Amino acid sequence: MSALAELLIIWQKKHGRHHLPWQNNTNPYTVWLSEIMLQQTQVNTVIPYYQQFIQRFPTIDKLAQAPLDDVLALWSGLGYYARARNLHRAALLIMIEHQGIFPRSREAIQQLPGIGRSTAAAIAVFAFGQRDAILDGNVKRVLARYFGVVDYPGEAETLKKLWRLAEQSLPGGDDPAGIRAYTQGLMDLGTLLCTRRNPACECCPLQHTCVAYQEKRVALLPAPRPKKRLSEKQTVFMIYRAKQRLLLEKRPDQGIWGGLWCFPENAVDHDRLKAGSGAPGVELPQLMHTFTHFRLWIHPQLVEVEAEIGSAGKMTAWVAPEEALHLAIPTPVRKLIVQHFLNDLS
Ligand code: ADE
Ligand code: SF4
Repeated sequence: MSALAELLIIWQKKHGRHHLPWQNNTNPYTVWLSEIMLQQTQVNTVIPYYQQFIQRFPTIDKLAQAPLDDVLALWSGLGYYARARNLHRAALLIMIEHQGIFPRSREAIQQLPGIGRSTAAAIAVFAFGQRDAILDGNVKRVLARYFGVVDYPGEAETLKKLWRLAEQSLPGGDDPAGIRAYTQGLMDLGTLLCTRRNPACECCPLQHTCVAYQEKRVALLPAPRPKKRLSEKQTVFMIYRAKQRLLLEKRPDQGIWGGLWCFPENAVDHDRLKAGSGAPGVELPQLMHTFTHFRLWIHPQLVEVEAEIGSAGKMTAWVAPEEALHLAIPTPVRKLIVQHFLNDLS
């Protein structure tokens, strides 16, 4: 048997959870209900909902006969209501297509609405004692650390690798008590010890064989989502100055900096930028502004003019630098004014 399975089963018996309301019970209906409620919801939140639900709908048949509105009302406050709709739909399907008998094979369970591979496997294990692998968020974290999987688990390839590891780690033989203790042990370890932050490795039964722990890489695993490289854009800010006053333009309401006052923008003349020849006006040092999806390189161009001319078709204003700071202006405009024009009495 894998070291992981052997250690986990022993630990689960002694230190795992044994008295949750849905445990010590192989009724596929209540196992199914608990697994659905426990998706994206904490045990303590689930317990009262689970108990009320079982009381009101004690069998698949009763659930199937209930109006959807009653099911949703009982789910109220638990969130992710698609879970309740799918539960109700699945109950009807079980009555109609499975003669009211919950299917036994993981593949058939997985065909029901709202049940993915991992949930189907958990039901097959707890209800029927079948030997099958689970891989929910907690288990992904435990396996990524235990086996030192350095790739991001959100990638399809990494997920395949984790499923393979999950299957290879299952306890051997077909003792239902073993696979149940093992599966519950993975869930318990992920909740009680191998938590996302500050895992309790010093109490962990797996520490001697855990790659992340042995190599002191626990905090680095599982690997975070790789950062997308931001695309880059260029623009020129034309800074017209007449008698120490600067020309600002109100931007259209739509688009970046919508409705804010800004220096007039020019398309970038790349050749001129490369040549660095600054006609007309003087080039000020470029600055970079980061948006969610791209980086904007701003090339400011200072042009001294005689008169306060306007720009056609735009709302414009000539303002003193101190005054501009009181207007709705975007951060790079503020930076430019503070760096180059404040207290500039020359
Ligand atoms: N999370 C998902 N399934 C669970 C279960 N059966 N017991 C505890 N937590 C769980
Ligand atoms: Fe998780 Fe630490 Fe245990 Fe490894 S030793 S499985 S990182 S709790």
